Amino acid sequence: MKFFLDTANLEEIKRIVKLGLVDGVTTNPSIIAKEGADFKTRIQEICSIVSGPVSAEVIGLTAEEMIQEGREIASWAENIVVKIPMTEAGLEATYQLTQENIKTNVTLIFTEAQGLMAAKAGATYISPFIGRLDDIGADGISLVKNLKGVLQAYGFETEIIAASIRNLDHLVQSSLAGAHIATIPGSILPSLWNHPLTTSGIETFMKDWGKLQGTVS
Ligand code: E4P
Repeated sequence: MKFFLDTANLEEIKRIVKLGLVDGVTTNPSIIAKEGADFKTRIQEICSIVSGPVSAEVIGLTAEEMIQEGREIASWAENIVVKIPMTEAGLEATYQLTQENIKTNVTLIFTEAQGLMAAKAGATYISPFIGRLDDIGADGISLVKNLKGVLQAYGFETEIIAASIRNLDHLVQSSLAGAHIATIPGSILPSLWNHPLTTSGIETFMKDWGKLQGTVS
């Protein structure tokens, strides 16, 4: 499973790149706004740190606006993926940009039908939002599982990015459901490698080692 970071925070990205865990990055307008950075500058900065796909989202709502913006965004770096919302206009833009060999990530996917339409339009990636579905009492993981089944059944090359991940269980269940990629927010990163038994195990080893040092003259 590939790991993307769901952040535009440069320090966070640099820190996790050092661990060899970053296969790509996803952003959205809220994530960029949180950083208070210039959109183009920040996306280019991220692309200079991460060699894998970096998703940058269009703001326009008509197909024409999305296509124009998509072409512009795609020109910023080699590894850009244009993120497009799942609407009729978004499908038109996805189809057009795909014809131009521009990679796309169709976002805000909440149903199997939306995922299938985006794949048919040529999306490189689709992003089902697990956490937001769980927020309304629906089952985000089932959506990922069903999307994987549909894509496999018909031989689509589109990859599933499990998005809106809020906890470790979302990540584990997404991998079991067959998501190709999980995009992970900084808030859950420590839970990926920390465990209380690991912490207490290290403490015990250190204490015992200290005792041994005390006995050796
Ligand atoms: C990623 O592509 C999405 O924009 C992101 O995961 C959304 O997460 P949220 O529902 O926690 O805002």
